[in-house]
Amino acid sequence: CGIIGCAGRDGETLDVLVHGLSKLEYRGYDSAGVALAGSDLDVCKTAGEIDELRAALEERSPSGSVGIGHTRWSTHGPPTDENAHPHLDCNREVAVVHNGIIENYQELRDELSTAGHEFRSDTDTEVVPHLIEDALADGADPEDAVRQAVARLEGSYAVCVVMSGVDRIFAARNDSPLVLGVDGEARSASESASGDEPRAAYYLASDVPAFRDHTDRVVYLADGEFAVVDADGYRVTTLDGEPVEKTEDTVDWDPEETGKSGYDHFMLKEIHEQPRALRQCFRGRVDELSGTVDLADLGDLSPRGVQLVACGTSYHAAVYAAQLFQQAGIPAQAFLASEYATSPPPIGDALVIGVTQSGETADTLSALREARRRGARTLAVTNTVGSTVARECDHAMYIRAGPEIGVAATKTFSSQIAALNLLSLAITSVGDSREVISGLRDLPGAVQEILDTSTAQEIAETYRDAESYFFIGRGLHYPVALEGALKMKEITYKHAEGFAAGELKHGPLALVTSDTPVFAVVTGDDEQATKTVGNVKEVEARDAPVVAVTDGASDVERYADHVLEVPDTHRRVAAVVANVQLQLVAYHTADMLGRSIDKPRNLAKSVTVE
Ligand code: G6P
Repeated sequence: CGIIGCAGRDGETLDVLVHGLSKLEYRGYDSAGVALAGSDLDVCKTAGEIDELRAALEERSPSGSVGIGHTRWSTHGPPTDENAHPHLDCNREVAVVHNGIIENYQELRDELSTAGHEFRSDTDTEVVPHLIEDALADGADPEDAVRQAVARLEGSYAVCVVMSGVDRIFAARNDSPLVLGVDGEARSASESASGDEPRAAYYLASDVPAFRDHTDRVVYLADGEFAVVDADGYRVTTLDGEPVEKTEDTVDWDPEETGKSGYDHFMLKEIHEQPRALRQCFRGRVDELSGTVDLADLGDLSPRGVQLVACGTSYHAAVYAAQLFQQAGIPAQAFLASEYATSPPPIGDALVIGVTQSGETADTLSALREARRRGARTLAVTNTVGSTVARECDHAMYIRAGPEIGVAATKTFSSQIAALNLLSLAITSVGDSREVISGLRDLPGAVQEILDTSTAQEIAETYRDAESYFFIGRGLHYPVALEGALKMKEITYKHAEGFAAGELKHGPLALVTSDTPVFAVVTGDDEQATKTVGNVKEVEARDAPVVAVTDGASDVERYADHVLEVPDTHRRVAAVVANVQLQLVAYHTADMLGRSIDKPRNLAKSVTVE
């Protein structure tokens, strides 16, 4: 879910909120709403995407000096108008938006219902305004009422609260992201013209893009902190009211980076941004002459073993990286973060690496916390400065891909692998480090070549009506097969599976027919490539159409119906390049099928619940 709050933009509050929500839609888009507080409380919320909310707002124009908004990814209750946030108390004087899961909500709801409160939704969030209502009725002032309510919550939350007759926003966080935007010089056009004193504005949001068009100054709130924000400033304390000294950071990316820049979809734009993202990842970290990588800012890591925890696409980058570490002689294993805690492996002297684009994925954070409880040192490999993972881990390495808005991860996968390549070079002694570094240097150019020459659109056209797609690869190509299939299912809604090439004959081959295109990722001509070509022959013999994603070094083309070409690159990076072809096949297939590419059904980019 995504949260936005705004104080200090009199007359523009509603526009700022709706614009902020549109920037947060990648966090969830099944319902949305806003609440503005002035002398009254005005609320508008609806099931559906932000456009539905915009349409609902056309019939009325809520106004107020402060406001909050929410875009939802359902956890408790279906996406209906009633379940959309903000949620209200019985008197409709308190409005709350929330991201996370309140674990003791049933107990609180039973208690409140017994005391006569009537609930209108199925959500866990609705207990919060009712708790605040009770505290107010008991004589607490607005700020204390919110503190008392928040103190009763167990679980994860970022909450923002407004009330009728109160020109402040109250906010609290625990295990869910919340960041404050500070704009000391916000001025309307007429004020600028009149030369009046600059006016300040303040924002609260789940993520910086929500207010990046207004300011680049941010304050990251930490778990257990409580903020009071109005047009004159902000105050941060602990939940008990102890003042907390906060420092301000500046974000270093442009507001344009969160626009589509002429592309039809964010996903296509982000696919095309990969060469630049990769260069940014390498900048200042690589010395080609000496064949060394400088990650001195990470301190001394020198682990005896590596465990990687991650979800979704990031997990595929982790599977890839585990092989890099293993090849360099360091025992390494990748774990699905949601499975890690069920039977945690012995830690020993392992470094536990959380790979997470957003830095907020609850499953990954929880696995890292489990690892820390067991004495592990932890490293975050993330795209998001100031994210929870970066703050909680002992070390953080940024992949520097720039903001990624499309729900289906593309450039962050490539940048994660690039960063993990650097990390493996920095903490292991790889014999051919100069060659690897030169391979990494060639990577952005190789990706660009694919973007300029790919025939993925023709392949998509040929197989757009297939019911099922298979992807196979071996070694470093195995996670790419997994990722190729994940992209395909995420955005086309078609069945797609990725397999280790050698495993196909142990079961999945039964599904292979002349109607199931098989994408085989094969580069180089070593023994592994020869074995994968053998697996390709097995599917070809069952009449399955074969699309070879290859650099032409092996003879796989002889058994393929189509070829997607990959430039000749170092074997450690060839799979990343091959993956770009598969990103494009998935994109064009989804585009031809008219799918909601940037916001696929049922998915959210950042899943902050376990
Ligand atoms: C969600 C997204 C996936 C993403 C995964 C991990 O499920 O839909 O696309 O790969 O989270 O995200 P992270 O931010 O941790 O990399």
